[in-house]
Amino acid sequence: MKPIIQELSDLFVTAFHDAGFDGKYGDVVISQRRELCHFQCNGALSAAKVYKLNPNDIATKVISSVKPNLIISNTSIAGAGFINIVIKDEVLVEYLQFMNSDDRLGISLDLFPKKIIIDYGGPNVAKPLHVGHIRSAILGEALKRLSRFLGHDVIGDIHLGDWGLQMGMIIASLQQQSPDLPYFDESFNGEYPEESPVSITDLQEIYSNASKDAKTNIEKLSEARKATFELQDGRVGYRALWKKIVDISITDMKANYSLLDVEFDLWKGESDSHEFIPQLLNYLQINNYTYKSEGASVIDIREDQDKHELPPFMLIKSDGSILYSTTDLSTIWERIKEYDPDEIWYVVDKRQEIHFTQLFRAARKTKIASNTLHLEHIAFGTMNGLDGRPYKTRDGSVMRLNDFIQSIIDKAYNRIIEVGVAKDFSVNEKREISQMVGVSALKFADLLSHRLKDYIFDIDKFTEFEGKTGPYLLYTTVRIKSIIRKAIENEIDFTCFQVPKSFIERELMLKLMELDDVLNQAFKYKEPNQICEYIYTLSLLFNSFYHEHHILSETDNSQRESWLCLSRLTEKILVTCLDICGIRTPERM
Ligand code: ARG
Repeated sequence: MKPIIQELSDLFVTAFHDAGFDGKYGDVVISQRRELCHFQCNGALSAAKVYKLNPNDIATKVISSVKPNLIISNTSIAGAGFINIVIKDEVLVEYLQFMNSDDRLGISLDLFPKKIIIDYGGPNVAKPLHVGHIRSAILGEALKRLSRFLGHDVIGDIHLGDWGLQMGMIIASLQQQSPDLPYFDESFNGEYPEESPVSITDLQEIYSNASKDAKTNIEKLSEARKATFELQDGRVGYRALWKKIVDISITDMKANYSLLDVEFDLWKGESDSHEFIPQLLNYLQINNYTYKSEGASVIDIREDQDKHELPPFMLIKSDGSILYSTTDLSTIWERIKEYDPDEIWYVVDKRQEIHFTQLFRAARKTKIASNTLHLEHIAFGTMNGLDGRPYKTRDGSVMRLNDFIQSIIDKAYNRIIEVGVAKDFSVNEKREISQMVGVSALKFADLLSHRLKDYIFDIDKFTEFEGKTGPYLLYTTVRIKSIIRKAIENEIDFTCFQVPKSFIERELMLKLMELDDVLNQAFKYKEPNQICEYIYTLSLLFNSFYHEHHILSETDNSQRESWLCLSRLTEKILVTCLDICGIRTPERM
């Protein structure tokens, strides 16, 4: 069954056409002013400019051209020429009935599914995960789930930073610290030990010291560069040691990401594209896309309309080493060869905007990316602390992801006790629930603020059970689950909706019907915040509805049945949308 908004758009496209105008003005949108109407068609205003006519006249003509139908109950013209549309209750009910009976809540799979690679995460090996990695993970995971829900073929790739200077720094400082390890003996040709020579904690300490050294000590820096170069060049012992370091880092990262319910399909890294670099360079050279500039090999990516001159895209530095830009370009090459995607999305901090502009231009200009490959930087702002600066620990250092998440879960636990949620539950269940509540607080807050904006992480506010928060949404969902459970325990059947009896009931129904539009808009603009806003409003409406109508004690059976259907559909939508946001819902709390 087609979404009502689609049926209406079809009617208005035809009406515009029949009235002598371009059908493209017939798009119908959900009304922002519910007290006036359910839907609006605002095309008469844009058409008026083009046809040099009065918008009101156009609207009048269009309305009289709308074909007879069973959907619209009333149309009127408001303001300068907006067409307000009110639909029939029966149509609304029929659509909800369909949503409720459909496994996919009436959302159809995209007719032209795309293969999309989403590059989100990008943590660097050996550096502990910190709060800076949160937004990429949360946003990327939500976009992945949303795209999948809409029928796209999506591959989530973590794209580890496992090939840069930090690897050389660690190797060089380990070599100083323990020169006798077999990894450093170039004549060694036995089996390297199974066990990693360092633990994740050692690694983080080595990294932290080595990066300080590299900043202040030129000699250390050049040793690190040399080690990086030799590693990339294939020095056997270095590669073996590197592999150990990557493996223990990945184990640690997996534990962190799983706390957040973030799952990657691919655990590839910058290093995986290394083997493609010779082909890439060869291709670029043969086709004259590269030139030498002060000893470096670069690609010119300027365009005539540029307001500020963009620096050329660096491929190989004058000392022969490769850069972040090189691995990103060779990764595009690799992804095309291995997966042939239609789209590649990079969910990365907005501060890397120039890098991605350069990268995409380089890929296009050199025809590595064909015109049909869509490349997009899905940028996001910073998560700040209460002081408005990037979130830090109390002593001013960068907060580790693990500690950060744990502190939210602890806070959620306290909240649960404070509010009396899950009161008679075992300590274990309480803990499980606080984990879900804590993660919901973090993820909902993160996704709720428009991705391009910086936002302030306020743990007290976000963990409240009231207001626009994850816990409020979980609470509402669980409340509905419990109503449904009681109905089932009392062997009440419910399959049929009835036309709404009250204003609030109709409002709730109209909101439920919006799901298709919300998900598709969120996908189009890559804005999960639209889903968050939607489920928040839906929860508010449900709670008002529940306050006004006593569902379980209703004596009219058909009425009670209809309200239970409404509750069930609300619950399914909440659970589905929360799941798209990467948020799990407890069965009870
Ligand atoms: N590792 C990078 C960093 O720490 C982020 C990687 C983002 N992804 C990409 N394909 N460039 O800044």
